[in-house]
Amino acid sequence: MSELSVDHVLGIKYLTPQDIQLIHQTADQFKEVINRPIKKVPSLRDITVANLFFENSTRTKLSFELAEKRLSADVINFSAAQSSVKKGETLIDTVNNILAMKVDVVVMRHPNPGAGVFLSNHINARIVNAGDGAHEHPTQALLDSYSIREKLGAEVMVCGPATLIPKHIEKLGVQVELDLRKALQWCDVANMLRVQNERMDISYFPSVREYTQQYGVNMELLQSLDKEITIMHPGPINRGVEITSEVADSDQAIILNQVENGVAVRMAVLYLVASKIKRN
Ligand code: CP
Repeated sequence: MSELSVDHVLGIKYLTPQDIQLIHQTADQFKEVINRPIKKVPSLRDITVANLFFENSTRTKLSFELAEKRLSADVINFSAAQSSVKKGETLIDTVNNILAMKVDVVVMRHPNPGAGVFLSNHINARIVNAGDGAHEHPTQALLDSYSIREKLGAEVMVCGPATLIPKHIEKLGVQVELDLRKALQWCDVANMLRVQNERMDISYFPSVREYTQQYGVNMELLQSLDKEITIMHPGPINRGVEITSEVADSDQAIILNQVENGVAVRMAVLYLVASKIKRN
């Protein structure tokens, strides 16, 4: 198989295992490219990509923009904070105005779950979801899985306060553990997720201090485990909350490898999505 089964990359749940494998294999080739002295290839020449960010981002925005430039795409950037969205313009009107400028691919971050799916049903461009609120962040998941690819097919456990664990999550085939030490003792890789205060309209735990005491990873805890585990974090890191600086900057952490892999994975996603446009 050399093409994706989907026209848009809206979420992991829409991808087949073969799509994920194809993205990872394509990312291998682009990772080699971005480590050459000349890091640019002409794969997306004549393709215009709009990066629409309706919510703040550092890593994802920069990573997509770099991936697009490495592929020689024409790139336009839109940030809601400095736009007519502030004057009450709707998502569809904003995007249709941008598409009138002949954009082929839209990379969009939006706080509303399902915003990418909504857009894909209303506009004639390929959509890549760069995070839709509390829902999906598919390229983050793809770069995370790429970074620990030899462990694909692994058993998964989620750990945190019961208030933050989605109801019925077991139905996805994961185990739930409320005790951090037990979870760390069980795993080979721990992906430390940020407490997303911006999405919390109520208090899910008594205080940040208590959260850190129960669910923060520090060196003492890591060194007390039976084996050395790998630490991941998607960023941005709340240093001293879910992870100490000592752990984040240690040899056990692969956080900056994730960032590097993110560019290669996003190059792969953009290349595979754009390849389908050219053939239609
Ligand atoms: N990991 C991640 O999505 O970071 P940003 O919010 O900075 O894009």
